[in-house]
Amino acid sequence: FIVSNVILIIGGSLVGASGIILTLLMCESMNRNILNVLKGGFGNVSNTDNEYSKDPVSTTPEDVAIRLSYAEKVIIVPGYGMAVAQAQSSVKDLTDMLKNMGIQVKFAIHPVAGRMPGHMNVLLAEANISYDKLFDMDEINDDFATADVALIIGANDVVNPAARHDDSSPIYGMPIIAADKARTVFAIKRSKNPGFAGIDNELYFSDRTWMLFGDAKHVLGELVKQLSGGSGMH
Ligand code: TAP
Repeated sequence: FIVSNVILIIGGSLVGASGIILTLLMCESMNRNILNVLKGGFGNVSNTDNEYSKDPVSTTPEDVAIRLSYAEKVIIVPGYGMAVAQAQSSVKDLTDMLKNMGIQVKFAIHPVAGRMPGHMNVLLAEANISYDKLFDMDEINDDFATADVALIIGANDVVNPAARHDDSSPIYGMPIIAADKARTVFAIKRSKNPGFAGIDNELYFSDRTWMLFGDAKHVLGELVKQLSGGSGMH
């Protein structure tokens, strides 16, 4: 019955073809070939205790709110952790708050941030974040040099500078978001654990990075609370 149903055959072929196209696009974004991806994820890295080898410096929502209130340009980099925390509406609240304080806010979207193509765009659209604030990695990377703050929300591999220079890294050659070029970097994540590729992120123990440890939704709520209490700082 199925084989003789032309509509099912055409529908199935279209779904298969779009799956192949998306897979190829994903491979291109990760700078890996399809056989390498099919053989199994990045995950063959042994990371003894699954934590950073150095200690990153952490900060508090209070301090980040003060720094944000003096910023003119903030670029938000969302990643898989924003999806896990379902933090998109809190991201919207923070964006609105910053906008009301006269701060320019943009989003830098990596093509493989999250776990499926378009993952970040879908979540941000769901939270009614205006599409004209979202920029593809290639469009926005040069902007980081003039950004006061890069605010990373649950992203890890897509901002790891090792991809540029460490040829022993499993993500070597993957184009990344240039968050490390911003004047100050704040990164929200729950722990010192690595992301999908299972490797340390050198950005997270750089001199200009401060970690805001906690669940993204909770931390963003705290930030918004601090900013609303501290109006007039900008
Ligand atoms: P990841 O490198 O996977 O990092 C996500 C980070 O989010 C983790 O380090 C995790 O740290 C943090 N996190 C998890 N839950 C959180 C929460 N509730 N609150 C705050 N932070 C949380 O993500 P990425 O930077 O988006 O990169 C995507 C990765 O997935 C790439 O390696 C990519 O190649 C791969 N991949 C992508 C796709 C597509 S098509 N998007 C498909 C397959 C694989 P903590 O545990 O410390 O919180």
